[in-house]
Amino acid sequence: MVPQIYRAKAINCHAGCCSLAYLCLISVNIMIQTQDAYNNWAKTYDTVANKTRDLEAIALKAVLDDSRYDTILELGCGTGKNTIWLSGKCDQLTAADFSPEMMAIAQQKVTSPNITFKQVDITHAWDFGKADLITCSLILEHIENLDHIFRQAAQTIKPGGKFYICELHPYKQLEGSRAKFEMNGELHQLEYFIHHISDYMQAARKHGFVCDDLQEWFDNDDKTTTPRLVSFLFSKK
Ligand SMILES: C[S@@+](CC[C@H](N)C(=O)[O-])C[C@H]1O[C@@H](n2cnc3c(N)ncnc32)[C@H](O)[C@@H]1O
Repeated sequence: MVPQIYRAKAINCHAGCCSLAYLCLISVNIMIQTQDAYNNWAKTYDTVANKTRDLEAIALKAVLDDSRYDTILELGCGTGKNTIWLSGKCDQLTAADFSPEMMAIAQQKVTSPNITFKQVDITHAWDFGKADLITCSLILEHIENLDHIFRQAAQTIKPGGKFYICELHPYKQLEGSRAKFEMNGELHQLEYFIHHISDYMQAARKHGFVCDDLQEWFDNDDKTTTPRLVSFLFSKK
């Protein structure tokens, strides 16, 4: 895990026309708190082109399609991209997020009676009750402490239960891909952390998970390019 902390130096000219943001009148990268960022991003999250968001929806359905669960806990449900589909795979779904604006959009979309929304910051201790499946889609890049996530997941998942994770691939992050959005003509970049595949595997093993499935997901399925996403399906022993 490589923490990437905001520094003034990290503000770069987005257009590539100069090295210092204050010289550039075209656009700047502005780093803002993750929760505030998602509250602002909520308005455009579903509508602006986003290959990472769209490919993850494909990955989740491909990895989880064959199974059904009593209870699912969806962490970082956002605007509900996966929520309705997951609610059809279980008797009871808890969808959690710390951004009220993102969740409000998810709540407008869903009508299924088996979904409970919770506004929760998952960097704190979890109190969700037991689950057969936990999902994390595009959330862990914003969370520094993977050990905390796997510890809480191990306490929450029933024996034999599953833990699905799909995140921006660390290689893609190393090439400069970031969660970011445009607002009022400015580019806002979110705080992020790079978790290597070995970081996930070691945190999983430490907390009693085994890896059932690991896949890398490429734009247009083109394996000559850097993978955009990595997905894991872990089982709790
Ligand atoms: C990129 S969005 C992904 C949303 C959805 N899972 C998807 O795939 O479209 C990341 C979501 O994680 C949420 N999030 C980030 N850090 C969080 C935290 N510490 N606790 C709870 N939610 C968090 C954000 O509010 C946001 O809705």
